[in-house]
Amino acid sequence: MSQRTFSIIKPDAVKKGYTAAILAEIEKAGFKIVAIKKIGLTKDQAAGFYYVHSERGFFDELTTFMSSGAIFPMVLEKDNAIADFRKLMGATDPAKADEGTLRKLFASSIGENAVHGSDAEETAAFEIGYFFTGYELK
Ligand code: TYD
Repeated sequence: MSQRTFSIIKPDAVKKGYTAAILAEIEKAGFKIVAIKKIGLTKDQAAGFYYVHSERGFFDELTTFMSSGAIFPMVLEKDNAIADFRKLMGATDPAKADEGTLRKLFASSIGENAVHGSDAEETAAFEIGYFFTGYELK
């Protein structure tokens, strides 16, 4: 069944000029880009997005990184989009990511790992709503 997920091209990948290459891989894998925009987050906005990690040791580093440059948040659609995008994205640590995954191809470290992808239906709904409003999601 057709499903929506949420993704971000993170500041490291945008800075390195990988945006178009990442979007090409995403479309090649069968995802429709429902919505996309280029924005910059404040540290507080990054903290709001990653609130589930607020007690983790890497939280300050994560929110500093996510507010360090432009990002492309986007909404993607296909059958089984959430699980399929997690597969396309690869492991959090690019050293452990499978060949051909976005993080194997484009990420440099566990912190600066090129892309985000929602891990469940409830998180996808929260994350889509964090960045997009109804008229942007037609
Ligand atoms: P997590 O939700 O565990 O990973 P994923 O992005 O694969 O769903 O963590 C969110 C982000 O936090 C992750 O993409 C990068 C950062 N992070 C670190 O910087 N260090 C870490 O040890 C972990 C687990 C995550």
